[in-house]
Amino acid sequence: MERQIAVIDFGSQYTQLIVRRIRELGYFSKLYQPTELRETGNPAAVILSGGPRSVTDEDAPDIDFEYLKSLGVPVLGVCYGMQLLNVKHGGEVIPSDRSEYGPSQLIPEGECPLFVGLSASSQIWMSHSDTCGNLGETTTVVAKNQHGVPVALDWGNRFYGIQFHPEVSHSHEGNTLLKNFIELADDVPRFEIASFKDHLVAQIRETVNGRKVVCGVSGGVDSTVLAVLLNEADIEMRAIFVDNGLLRKNEAKEVQEQFDELGVEIEVIDAGDLFLGRLAGIDDPEEKRAIIGNTFLDVFWDAVGEEIQLLAQGTLYPDVIESATSGSMASTIKTHHNRVPRVVALQAEGRVIEPLDELFKDEVRALGEVLKIPKRLLYRHPFPGPGLAVRVPGEVTPHKLAITREADAVFMRELRDGGWYDKIWQAYAALIPVKTVGVKGDVRSYEFALSLRAVTSEDAMTAEPAEMDWKFLKATANAILNEVDGVNRVLYDVSTKPPASIEWE
Ligand code: XMP
Repeated sequence: MERQIAVIDFGSQYTQLIVRRIRELGYFSKLYQPTELRETGNPAAVILSGGPRSVTDEDAPDIDFEYLKSLGVPVLGVCYGMQLLNVKHGGEVIPSDRSEYGPSQLIPEGECPLFVGLSASSQIWMSHSDTCGNLGETTTVVAKNQHGVPVALDWGNRFYGIQFHPEVSHSHEGNTLLKNFIELADDVPRFEIASFKDHLVAQIRETVNGRKVVCGVSGGVDSTVLAVLLNEADIEMRAIFVDNGLLRKNEAKEVQEQFDELGVEIEVIDAGDLFLGRLAGIDDPEEKRAIIGNTFLDVFWDAVGEEIQLLAQGTLYPDVIESATSGSMASTIKTHHNRVPRVVALQAEGRVIEPLDELFKDEVRALGEVLKIPKRLLYRHPFPGPGLAVRVPGEVTPHKLAITREADAVFMRELRDGGWYDKIWQAYAALIPVKTVGVKGDVRSYEFALSLRAVTSEDAMTAEPAEMDWKFLKATANAILNEVDGVNRVLYDVSTKPPASIEWE
C-alpha cells in the first residue's frame, strides 16, 4: 500500500471531498472508519473528518486516542474531529447557542504553520452546532473568526484542529491549508499514477496467480481501462462485449476496432434480437430497464459459463464509498450492477477482483493515458447502460431506434466539428414519440419530433442545459432534418436537472 494520508470518516457529507482534495494535491489518501485506525498501516498523517453527531452523545463515534498518538504523525481534526480532539486533550465541547452554517472569516494568530501563505483574513465555511468550550492546558488558539471566537487550535505534537471545512470550495484558501498540513508530515511520497500502474499490475499478477480472468467490456472508460490493465499484466483473460442492439451508430464495430488497436482480444456477442424481442410491446420505463438489466446478465453469464475462476470488475472508489457525498446516479447504478447476487456469491469466495477500486474517475482517465489509450476514448461522454432505450420513450421499436441512432450520430458529428463536444458533460438526441405535421419537398409530412439535449454538469446529480449558440443549433437541426428520415421537427431541451433528469427515462 502506498504511504498515505488517512482520513477517518465521522460521517460528514464532505468527507469524500477531503480525500479528493489531497489526491488533487498529489498525495495518496483513503477513507477509513473510526474503528479501522489500525488498518491505516503506516500513515504519513491522519485527518479526522467532520460528522453529524455531537461528541457529547453517549454513543458518539470515538477514536483510539492512545494509538493515534503512538503513530507520531501530524493529525488534523476538522469540525467534529476538532471537537473530539479537544475533549481528548482535556477540553470540553458544548452545544453552541445557535448552529453556524455558511461563510465566516478566518483570522490566523501567531505563527501557526497551517496558515503559512494564507491571507490575514479569508473566507471559511462553517457547518456545526457544537463548539469547543473550555480548552485543555496545552491548547493554543491559533485562529479566530471575525467575532473573536476560536476556530483553530494547536495542541502540540503536530495535533491541530479546525472548526471549519477546508475541503469545500467556499473555504477560499482551504487547499493551501491542507497542503501546509501535509507538508508537516515526514517523507510523504507523491502519488504518481505511472508508478501506481506498476503497483496495480504487480498486484493483479499476484492475486490472479495463474487463474483465468473474465471481464465485461462496454466500450466505456472504466471497463476499457480495466481490460487494458489486465492485458498489460499479461494474464490469461477473456473480455466479453455484449451488443444489446441499443448502441449508437457503428458502436459495436468501433469498440471492436478500438480493442484491436489496443491489442486486447474481445469476444463480441450479438444479442440485439434477444433484447429487442423482450422489449417488444413494453412501454413502462422501469420495466424496460429491468428487462435490459436482466437480459444483459443472462447473456453475459451464459457466455462466461461455469468454469469462471475470477471475475474482474471496473468498480471505482466512489462506488465503494457507500457514504459517497457525490453518490452520482451513474455510480449508484453501477454499484447495483456490480453487486448482483451472482457477483456477491463469487465475492464471498474471493473470486472478484476490482483493481480500480481505489481510484476516482479522473485518476482512471490518467491511468488510461499512461496505458496509451487514446484521449478520444477516455474523455467520451457518459452513455447509459440501457443505451438508446432510455432515449426512445415508451415502446422501443427498430424503426424508432434507427431514427434516434442516425440523429444522434449527426448531432455528435456537429458537436465535434463545432468544438462543443469537450465543453459539455453529455449530449444526445431523444425521439419524441409523437408525430407532427410538416412539409417536405412540397408534400405534407407526418413524422416524429426529436429533442436534442446537451448539458453541463459536475457529477450528473444536477445539470444545466448547455448554452449553445443559436446558429449552431439551427445548423444542427437543419442537418438532422435533411439527413435523417422519419423526422420533421427538432427541439432543444432547456430543462435543468432537477426537476428534469438528464435522460428521458
Ligand atoms: P439521469 O437521467 O438520472 O442520469 O439524470 C444521470 C446520469 O446517469 C446516466 N444514466 C445511467 N448510466 N446506467 C448507466 O450506466 C443507467 O441505467 C443509467 N441511467 C442514467 C445518464 O446518462 C447520466 O449521465
